[in-house]
Amino acid sequence: MKNPLRVGLVGLGTVGCSVVSIIQTQTDLLRKICDHPIEILAVSARDRTRHRHADVSPYTWHDDPLALARDPRIDVVVEMVGGQNGIALDVCQAALAHGKSVVTANKAMMAHHGVALALQAETKGLSLCYEAAVAGGIPILKMLREGSSANTIESLYGILNGTCNYILTTMAKTGASFEDVLEEAKRLGYAEADPSFDIDGIDTAQKLALLSSMAYGVVPDVNNLYVEGIRGLSAADVAAAEDIGYVIKLIAKARYHRGILHQAVYPALIPNHIPLAHVDDVFNGVLFKGDFVGEIMVTGRGAGGDPTASAIMADLIDLANHRHVYPFKVSVRDLIQAKPESMDTYTCRYYVRFMLRDVAGAVSHVARILADHDVSIRSLKQPEAEYHQGIVPLILTTHECQESVIQKTLSEIRALDILCDDPKLLRVEPF
Ligand SMILES: NC(=O)c1ccc[n+]([C@@H]2O[C@H](COP(=O)([O-])OP(=O)(O)OC[C@H]3O[C@@H](n4cnc5c(N)ncnc54)[C@H](OP(=O)(O)O)[C@@H]3O)[C@@H](O)[C@H]2O)c1
Repeated sequence: MKNPLRVGLVGLGTVGCSVVSIIQTQTDLLRKICDHPIEILAVSARDRTRHRHADVSPYTWHDDPLALARDPRIDVVVEMVGGQNGIALDVCQAALAHGKSVVTANKAMMAHHGVALALQAETKGLSLCYEAAVAGGIPILKMLREGSSANTIESLYGILNGTCNYILTTMAKTGASFEDVLEEAKRLGYAEADPSFDIDGIDTAQKLALLSSMAYGVVPDVNNLYVEGIRGLSAADVAAAEDIGYVIKLIAKARYHRGILHQAVYPALIPNHIPLAHVDDVFNGVLFKGDFVGEIMVTGRGAGGDPTASAIMADLIDLANHRHVYPFKVSVRDLIQAKPESMDTYTCRYYVRFMLRDVAGAVSHVARILADHDVSIRSLKQPEAEYHQGIVPLILTTHECQESVIQKTLSEIRALDILCDDPKLLRVEPF
């Protein structure tokens, strides 16, 4: 029998315990598919006395995760603590410094420190794997890095946050308000007590930076990425979008062309007839287009202990079979420092909802300012049923125009005294 791949696990929460369970229950399968058997040697977490959902008693316990990272018997450290900095980063750096490959599920750390860690790994001929950090159980990094690696990726879209997708899907199904659905999501365990990281788009942005890097061989750049979350979306917008044949999704989007990288996260109207529109509830989905392969879409569970552990296992199995790959598809020295595209120059169609006082000529005032800026209206509606106490919505979509133009137009319209609320602007994605 070949030498085992000796693994140390740091973090024994939702994901960590699922990894233990898979290794303990899938023994036959793992034996057949791994050149070297995967063997847990040591574990570490914050509180040794805490009840765990998996039996960790057979393994050496390290109170200090850094001692585990330095343990000379261990070949691979799996980091499942989380957090951009702190103990997670210390553990990964220490493991690499001590000649151990690292597997992690940590998108925040990888988005901010991934290149430095990759350089550390590459210099020592070690691996740094993070399939679980993006879209949970969906093996999207492998697809981009391996299965579709001969393609130039023309565009990439993702629905990458289960909390937001659950909220938007439920709003569309029930007509309930954002606030009510968020509270329900918290009760069901789909949203954190402080959901800002998810609903403000930060989680999605970190995953997008990693996906872009894998798709385009660019330095992951989470700091120059346009991010707008779903806070403040109204049930009226969700219903109005449906009325004109669209659904609203929090999308992550990347495109790279001639040194310019467009990366953005925002709630967008996407046409009902495309498959991505039907990635619902807590599911994630990624749609990308390669110049030779054409469109590929994958969907599945983007979070949860078992799906995430499944992705971690894929990385461990690679290591057990000597499959070493560059963390960002290409060597760190070949990563491109792309120029970020300003959102100002972005061009698409727009959805705008105005709340107007019901006075004669109100619509024509809005239409005149749009025309002054050459913003052409594609559809326009004043739903009779939504007339309320002298206030009526005006919902329109535009033909394509530049973001800077629509923003300037709206700032002029905002100055009109017929407006009762800030206009809601959403992008209509050109699929
Ligand atoms: N949960 C998901 O669905 C999911 C999906 C994709 C990616 N991820 C990523 O997976 C990672 C783990 O997530 P999780 O949901 O499993 O988290 P979790 O349930 O909160 O578990 C975190 C673990 O880290 C340990 N820990 C925390 N601080 C520590 C410290 N200072 N020293 C040692 N151990 C410490 C905790 O120890 P105690 O148990 O003793 O408190 C716990 O076992 C994160 O990077 C997360 O972003 C999670």
